[in-house]
Amino acid sequence: MTQQKIVLVTGATKGIGREIARQFGELGWIVLVGGRDLARAETVVKELAADGGEAAAVRVEVTDETSARQAAEWIEQQYGRLDVLVNNAAIIPEGDGPVSAVSIESLRAGFETNVLGLVATAQAMLPLLRRAEAARVVNLSTELSSMTRVGDPESRMSTVFTTGYNTSKAAVNMVTVMLANELRSEGILVNAADPGNCATDMGGWDAPRTPAQGAAVAVRLATLPADAPTGQLHAEEGRLPW
Ligand SMILES: NC(=O)c1ccc[n+]([C@@H]2O[C@H](COP(=O)([O-])OP(=O)(O)OC[C@H]3O[C@@H](n4cnc5c(N)ncnc54)[C@H](OP(=O)(O)O)[C@@H]3O)[C@@H](O)[C@H]2O)c1
Repeated sequence: MTQQKIVLVTGATKGIGREIARQFGELGWIVLVGGRDLARAETVVKELAADGGEAAAVRVEVTDETSARQAAEWIEQQYGRLDVLVNNAAIIPEGDGPVSAVSIESLRAGFETNVLGLVATAQAMLPLLRRAEAARVVNLSTELSSMTRVGDPESRMSTVFTTGYNTSKAAVNMVTVMLANELRSEGILVNAADPGNCATDMGGWDAPRTPAQGAAVAVRLATLPADAPTGQLHAEEGRLPW
């Protein structure tokens, strides 16, 4: 089995996910570029290979449990284990809006990708993570998931009315804490990362932070030492309140 560390990043075809993949490539890891569109994942693999990294494309459509299972089977055949899973894939659902007006369909779509998709991917990859020496799971979250921040009328977070996105990411936080509790005795750390508002399709191209700055938050949590915290939400400046 290879000594090189292996990471799977979901939604690595663009934005912060692509940057997370690139930063792991710089660290010398084998990068599994997860994408629902395999051809676009292959394009990212070529970019990483051009920079001298080792990478492979893996089709992961997080809303399709079969795809996550097939990805896990392929990773097992190729590498026999997984050191880090970065659950990055997410959406702001179409038609998201305030509680008074958001469509139930939109809420459902947000939960389908951001929560159910994340859990399905984690479940599929867990046997492989358990075979690693010091596995880590990082779930991409957001300040908009923080009830403390959204509940503070002085905070900019209280002025953003994306119910599907905020509530699904709050659920991601709970999944993070619960999975961290479940895996604590096995030495697998599970944390949530807030990349901050980054310039991507999701974050808006006038956002103040670069995808590289956002990605660095996730990469740091994915490479924490054994005595580091688990079950927490961190941004660049440190721990965020729930
Ligand atoms: N950008 C920000 O300001 C910001 C702030 C806080 C948190 N975040 C979080 O950071 C993460 C990355 O955000 P981003 O700004 O990079 O978003 P993005 O540019 O919209 O990229 C999202 C990625 O997720 C993939 N994806 C969406 N639905 C998927 C599905 N069903 N199956 C598999 N992949 C799927 C997309 O694939 P396609 O290319 O195929 O669509 C894309 O690769 C997200 O979890 C987001 O919530 C972002």
